Amino acid sequence: MLEVSRFAVEDLTDGCVTDKKNPCFSYRLNSDRTDVTVREAVITLNGWSARTAEQTGIRYDGTELKPFTRYTAVLDVTDDAGETAHAEVSFETGRMGEAWKGVWISDPAYSFTEKGVSPVPMMFRRKIGTKGKIASAKLYATALGIYELEIDGKKVGDRYFAPGFTSYKHEMQYQVYDVTELLAEEKESTLTAVVAGGWAVGSFVFTRVNRFDGDRQAFLAELRITYGDGTEEIVGTDGSWEVTEDGPFRMADIYDGEIYDATVDPEKITWRKAAQEQLKFTPNLMADYGSPVKAHEEMRPVSCKKLSDGTLVYDFGQNFAGVVKLRLNGKKGQTVTVKHAEILNQDGSLNTKFLRTAKATATYTCRDGAQEYSPRLTYMGFRYVGITGIDEKDVNVSALALYSDIERIGEFTCSNEMINRLQQNIIWSSKSNFVDIPTDCPQRDERMGWTGDIAVFAPTACFNFDISRFLEKWLLDVKAEQLPSGGIPNTVPVQGYGFPATMPSMAIDWWGDACVLVPWAQYMAGGDVQVLRDMYPVMKKYVKACHFWAGFGFGKHRYIWHTPSVLHFGDWVAPDVPKMSQWQGRSKWTATASLYNTSRLTGEVARILGEEEDAKYYKELSEKVADAYVSVFTDGNGKLKEEFQTAYVLPLWFKMFPENVQGKAAENLAALVKASDYCIGTGFPGTPYILFALADNGQADAAFQMLTNTKCPSWLYEVKSGATTIWERWDGLDENGECPIGDDGTDMMISYNHYASGAVGAFLYQRVAGIQADEPGYKTFTVKPLVGGEITSAKAETVTPYGKIVSDWKVEKGTFQIDIEVPVGTKCTVTLPDGSTQQHGSGRYHLSCPWEKQ
Ligand code: BGC
Repeated sequence: MLEVSRFAVEDLTDGCVTDKKNPCFSYRLNSDRTDVTVREAVITLNGWSARTAEQTGIRYDGTELKPFTRYTAVLDVTDDAGETAHAEVSFETGRMGEAWKGVWISDPAYSFTEKGVSPVPMMFRRKIGTKGKIASAKLYATALGIYELEIDGKKVGDRYFAPGFTSYKHEMQYQVYDVTELLAEEKESTLTAVVAGGWAVGSFVFTRVNRFDGDRQAFLAELRITYGDGTEEIVGTDGSWEVTEDGPFRMADIYDGEIYDATVDPEKITWRKAAQEQLKFTPNLMADYGSPVKAHEEMRPVSCKKLSDGTLVYDFGQNFAGVVKLRLNGKKGQTVTVKHAEILNQDGSLNTKFLRTAKATATYTCRDGAQEYSPRLTYMGFRYVGITGIDEKDVNVSALALYSDIERIGEFTCSNEMINRLQQNIIWSSKSNFVDIPTDCPQRDERMGWTGDIAVFAPTACFNFDISRFLEKWLLDVKAEQLPSGGIPNTVPVQGYGFPATMPSMAIDWWGDACVLVPWAQYMAGGDVQVLRDMYPVMKKYVKACHFWAGFGFGKHRYIWHTPSVLHFGDWVAPDVPKMSQWQGRSKWTATASLYNTSRLTGEVARILGEEEDAKYYKELSEKVADAYVSVFTDGNGKLKEEFQTAYVLPLWFKMFPENVQGKAAENLAALVKASDYCIGTGFPGTPYILFALADNGQADAAFQMLTNTKCPSWLYEVKSGATTIWERWDGLDENGECPIGDDGTDMMISYNHYASGAVGAFLYQRVAGIQADEPGYKTFTVKPLVGGEITSAKAETVTPYGKIVSDWKVEKGTFQIDIEVPVGTKCTVTLPDGSTQQHGSGRYHLSCPWEKQ
């Protein structure tokens, strides 16, 4: 029997509202037969139909879709045996460019000029009297800042930080809420919006710049009511709305937290008339196309200790991004303060030093009686909270993990429990840093879209989560923010930079590489070529800029990228050299390898898109760069003149060495690794690939020794030290639980929740479990487990566009056994440790071979 397990539009099975002219369809199938392929699928919508054997990237191209309309697409699929299945998916179109009846409004009397702080949250309200039976009511809203909506005191929708973080001057999302059930019929309802400064107007970036996109908050909304008799009423934001800054939200700031006063009665404060506001720019307003931030796990403390000063310190047992949720028994005017931290001092108090300027504090003033409080307009990265102002018996503490609404699609486990914890740490650092945009960290005064972090982490992330919408949204900003010079800003969206300008208008290796590496990772995981089409012009312009900056020199040095290292990040956070300037000092190697990699990949993209001439150009360019790297940095026989791990890892993994010296280079890397007692010595660029560089070149033993090492610095040292997320710095805590990092030029850049070095996760899936896409989207893939390092079993599963792939193996009594699952529409090549290879179509298989420990 054939069945459709998922039929999605714009990667959503439910609740999609889109402004896309060509919404994209995809589907997955299940069957009780094996080796099933699709003979033909027919998707019909609005008089259009597509006949295809593809399962992803099927775009509507029929007559123009109308705005504000519900559509249903129908899928009828026939497999190779003639079995059929049917499914439907409904979606709604957004405004499709339709002009708003409302105008942007603000409080003309409000101005704030103070540096380093966020504006007081602005509240807007309007009473709405409905005139009859409501058939449907939809609210369209967005804001400059971040907003929350209520109708008669009830929250509208379940997302946080609307309209999300985008490059506001280019594009801004708006939200669509079905408020049919919330509006009172035939009487008045009050619609209230609170708009905080958020990323657009609030203080943001470590320089605490504010008012980046506007001098104050602004709000835009339109309520469309359709009555039972078919008549329509539209209420937009205009001068009839009221505004105040005297509401219960007294302060809200991404870094500093929130101050809420529950004694404030909105009926007793002064409301003024709102007025039309002229934004500084005209963003393209689009219905949500990313993945909104929502509350996921409710975290419960594992312990509570009272300090001598009375502070109640709660430990959630897990580092994460989110907000506390307090159920309190309070007295009017009683003030409860909640501070947040990732680690504790030796005396059990909160260590907030590494939050730098971020105050990360929630302050709540109670009314009388039982009440609940959870911040809505800020978030923190923490494991511990310190609460003052209330007795333990009067407060019930939990917390909400906040992150983008991305689907968890992967899991990895094996016989080594510490590696399993490492995998969980990777998952938690992903969740904590997928907060509307890919951030570096969730706790200190950054939380910015640092490009280098996601550039190295994207392949791992794509095994664990479906982040296609999340990345698509961010990549649109990468495209919009590309500098005229071709460089990509180090953080996207760019927000309020000050000196030192870590964002010069030049190309920066690895960080800028995100414009190539992220779409490539998404393409390999998701199989939809559109992401390459969209980003190809950006890649070309970027590689041109990299080539330009590399081009200062003579002969082969024209391909050695050696612009002043102070502008590059080099081997960022490499633990074998203690100073930031030393990481940066390695940029000649990292940048040259980056230029090789981005030009090679851009050539590959050109080939896929049929741009043959470009493909040839980029291939030749990459070959020249590889030749220069080998000629300038090595003795020509696989030995670096100046040796460090990353300088071997990059050319090895990218295959820049001539084939006959690749093995020798790997031996030299293995010797270097052995000399460091199998401790890691790589920074951001080398970390994702070091185990691959070793294992794929005859040094699997060294790779496993490094993976399972628990000495500092190593992945499992962090686990041994009790880490529940991935640390930014390999040596973030010493054996005594103290941070040993002194003045290293980074201004206390020490986070315990930074996913970049969790990029090792791809090795767990691709080598230990052995799952590797041969074609994008896993249409054809390999399962080739690598057994090593005392690991006796491993299981990985990841949901691909075609369905779930499973590789589940163990070695026992001289036998290697594996269970695999191959989704409908795909083909798998399985290679067992004895070298035997088999091909399988969809289905479940059990295979085995003799196994002898090497
Ligand atoms: C961030 C990093 C980022 C780096 C680049 C740091 O402050 O937290 O993850 O990529 O700066 O310089």
